[in-house]
Parts: sequence; C-alpha cells; structure tokens
Amino acid sequence: MQLKLIYNNQVLGIGSGSTIVPVVHRLAERVKQENLNIVCIPTSFQARQLILQNDLSLSDLDRHPELDVAFDGADEVDSDLSLIKGGGGCLTQEKIVAGYAKCFVVVADYRKNSKNLGEQWKKGIPIEVIPMAYVPVTRAVTRKFGGVAELRMAVRKAGPVVTDNGNFILDWKFDKVHKWNEVNTAIKMIPGVVETGLFINMADVVYFGMEDGSVRACEKLAL
Ligand code: A5P
Repeated sequence: MQLKLIYNNQVLGIGSGSTIVPVVHRLAERVKQENLNIVCIPTSFQARQLILQNDLSLSDLDRHPELDVAFDGADEVDSDLSLIKGGGGCLTQEKIVAGYAKCFVVVADYRKNSKNLGEQWKKGIPIEVIPMAYVPVTRAVTRKFGGVAELRMAVRKAGPVVTDNGNFILDWKFDKVHKWNEVNTAIKMIPGVVETGLFINMADVVYFGMEDGSVRACEKLAL
C-alpha cells in the first residue's frame, strides 16, 4: 500500500485489528528508509505493542493532543462512509484518537463495503458500557430501537470480554436501517454507555483493498 499521506514531523494515530498491521509495517519501512521523525499514538494495547515491535516512536494524547492523520480499520463502511467499528473491542480509544486527528483514514477489505450498515457485518454495533450498567443499558437500547443486545463473552476465559478500559461490550443486533447519527447520539445519552462503535461523519477517506489487488479510494463528499 502507498502511504502518500505520511510526511516528516507528523503525529499519527495507529488503529487496532488485523488490517492495520500491514499499514504499520509499511509505515515502519518508510520511517527507516527516509529517516522520518514520526510519533505514533496507539488506540489499544494491541496498537501499542505494534508500535513498539516496529521500532516506531510511541507517544500519547497528553504530549500530542492533536494528530495529523489517524489510520484504522473498520468492520463495515456504508455509502456515506459511516462505519461500524469495535469488532476487536477497541472502539472507545479508536474514536478518541480519530476524533482528534485532522484526517481520519480507514483501510478495509472490499467485503466490508455496503450500501447500508448491517448488510455485511452481522455481529451488531458494539457499545462499550460500564460493567454495573450492562443490564439496564441492554434494556434501554432494545426498548428504544428494537433488535437484540448481547453481552460479548470472552473466548478462552470464563465470563465477559473486558476492554482495555476495564468495561464490558454489548453487541447490538439492530433489525432495520436507522438514522445512524440520531441513534448514535441517543445511545450515548443512556447512563452507563461509554461509547458506541458507530463512527458517523468521521472518515475522510476509505481505501478498499479490491479482489484483484487494486486499491479503491472513497472520499468524504465536501458539503
Ligand atoms: C477494533 O476494535 C476494530 O474497530 C477494528 O478496527 C475493526 O474491527 C477492524 O478489524 P480488522 O482489521 O481485524 O477486520
């Protein structure tokens, strides 16, 4: 992948998941080859490890509260470039880092491209919740918007998934297409909700890796 968005003296956000791994490898190559001074802000424990393993310079939002570009993957991308994220449970830190970047760049496989959210991604919208509130939040979300919300359970560990922030994840399987901006705001107002995996109007560009090996760029329309 060509990383034409990378220049010297930038602060970059590093997303989480599997798709971001080759992006970081390419970034590390360029930093070495061109002797670039780049600082990286992680969006998870995994991203932090990835930065360190690739000998990139690790920082945080205390020292670098504004980023030039944030790179991340997504679970699904609709035709408005609204995203579902959080399949790996890292949605809250991912949204924070992307939210303080001048440019948010998403990299995804062509199979994640949909007209409407939910066409490809069937596991629901992740919602990070404070553990003591997961039952009332589950009820509030499904009463308001229908569907089913399930506590995400861990694999090879008894009990629920615990996020990097010490919280639980609900996966809300919705049963119709909603006005995602309104739903996102309404869910965030429910006491006990930390963050949702709906990333609305955040992505500036999505690079889809196509079946034939080419890359298709979809950019946010300027309003
Ligand atoms: C992590 O919580 C997610 O938001 C990931 O960015 C997203 O799930 C994409 O992951 P993959 O690149 O592994 O599909």
